Order: sequence, then structure tokens, then C-alpha cells
Amino acid sequence: MAERRNLLETLDKKKIPYHVAIIMDGNGRWAQKRGLPRIEGHKQGAKSVDSVTTTARKIGIKYLTLYAFSKDNWKRPKDEILALFDLLRHYLSKKKDKMKKNQIKFNVVGDIEDLPQDIVGKINEVKAYTSDCNGMVLTLALSYSGKSEIVKACKKILKMYKDGKITEEEIDNNLFSDMIGLPDVDLLIRTSGEMRVSDFLLWNIAYAEVYITKKLWPDFRGKDLIKAMKEFQKRERRFGLTQEQIMTMKQDMKENTEKTIDCP
Ligand code: FPP
Repeated sequence: MAERRNLLETLDKKKIPYHVAIIMDGNGRWAQKRGLPRIEGHKQGAKSVDSVTTTARKIGIKYLTLYAFSKDNWKRPKDEILALFDLLRHYLSKKKDKMKKNQIKFNVVGDIEDLPQDIVGKINEVKAYTSDCNGMVLTLALSYSGKSEIVKACKKILKMYKDGKITEEEIDNNLFSDMIGLPDVDLLIRTSGEMRVSDFLLWNIAYAEVYITKKLWPDFRGKDLIKAMKEFQKRERRFGLTQEQIMTMKQDMKENTEKTIDCP
């Protein structure tokens, strides 16, 4: 607790990423290393979800998106899938008041209709319950595929075009981003040392900084998120520009700020 508080104070408040997305990986290996069934790794992983969400809110992150269940995860053994759904049910019931108290708005992305009906009901209930919270948006990606999401966005745009609601000229990156929904990702974290993006938020991660840690997800807690923030704050984001252009932009911004302050 004290370590987390001290670490929090060392963060630069002006350089907090707006949207952090996490590929939570390594639950199975965590359990295997201890001779435990895989589900024990997922149970510990759910505790990390709680710790990381609480810390993200304290840091001032506005969007936190967690990859909880991919479309490809449907290929896993049935008992593991059922156990994951039980954890999700439990999480939704137990954490909704904490979300509300901490002003966390709950959201989901993915093909939610693939999930068991009662979970869909709980998701909608927690979404409605937290709909007026405005501290941070917590999104769980469930039955999610980044590729499918892009195809869906294309279909929506095509329909708008066919219905005469938009012209060809109006089809641009901004419209596409609107169809996808979530904002661009500033920081993408992946645990367990794997160097893959695994079909996660493909549109949104175009200019994301990537942070990969060898820590397995069940061992990744709030203090590890702060360490990732510190690393992010050291990075220079260029968005395709040269270092000189970035320096000039920073200088211009500084001068403009000074001018604004000078104004009577
Ligand atoms: C990846 O580890 C993790 C998942 C596929 C599931 C993520 C689920 C949780 C963190 C717990 C429940 C979540 C919520 C929101 C309550 P893996 O199983 O692929 O690990 P491995 O690569 O070591 O086998």
C-alpha cells in the first residue's frame, strides 16, 4: 500500500495516458508453476483486475480496456470456459458497487450475444447501474476480435452510405474511429513476456506505446501498472514526425501558453 502510494506520487500528472489497454496473459502458466489447475491462475488474475482497475482510477487514466476473453478463447476446453464465465458472473455481482463508488463506468466490446444469457443480463445491469459515472471507463473485451470489429465498422459505414446518410468524401479515419467506439490507445501493456498483439484493438493501437513485462498476469498488480506508467512517461511519442519537428512543436506550445498567461 505505502509502496504504491509513494510510487503514485512520483508520476508526472501532465503525462498520464488517456487510454490504457492490457492483454492479460499468463494465468495458466502461473497456475502450472505451482502445480495448480489453470482456473486457479484465472482466480488470481481476477484479483489483479481489481487491483489494476483501482490503481488506474487513482492515477487518473480515463479509459482502461482489458482483454478478458477473445473469440479464439472459445476453442479452449469447455470446463475452463465455464469456470471463466463463473468468475465473470462473480466479478459483475461483487464489484458493481465498488465501480459506482469509484465513479467507474462499465462498458464491454465484442460479440456479447455469444455469451450465456444470464451474463448478458448482468452486463446490461452493471452498464445501466454505472452509466452516470464519469471518473473512468472500464471496458472488458469479451468474445472479442479486432479484425471482426473492423469488418463490422466497414459494414456499418457501407449501410450509411447506401442509405444516403454519408457521401464517399465523408468516409475517413474520424468516421471509422466513431464506428469503432473506443478512443485511440496510448499505452498497450502485455504481461507474460509474449510479443504479440493477438487481434486486440487493431484499429485503436495504431500509435500506441507498447510495454511488455515478463510478469505473469496474476502477479501484476497496481504497483506494476505505476511502473508501466513511469516507463511510458520516459517515451517520446512522435506520431511519424521527426525529433526536430517535435521540439519545434513543444517550443511553439510553450510560447503560446506564455502568451495566453500574459493576456489581461
Ligand atoms: C490469459 O491467460 C487470460 C485469459 C484468457 C483470461 C483472462 C481472465 C482473467 C484475468 C480472469 C477473469 C476476468 C475477469 C474480468 C473477472 P492464459 O490462460 O492464456 O495463460 P497462459 O498463456 O499462461 O496459458
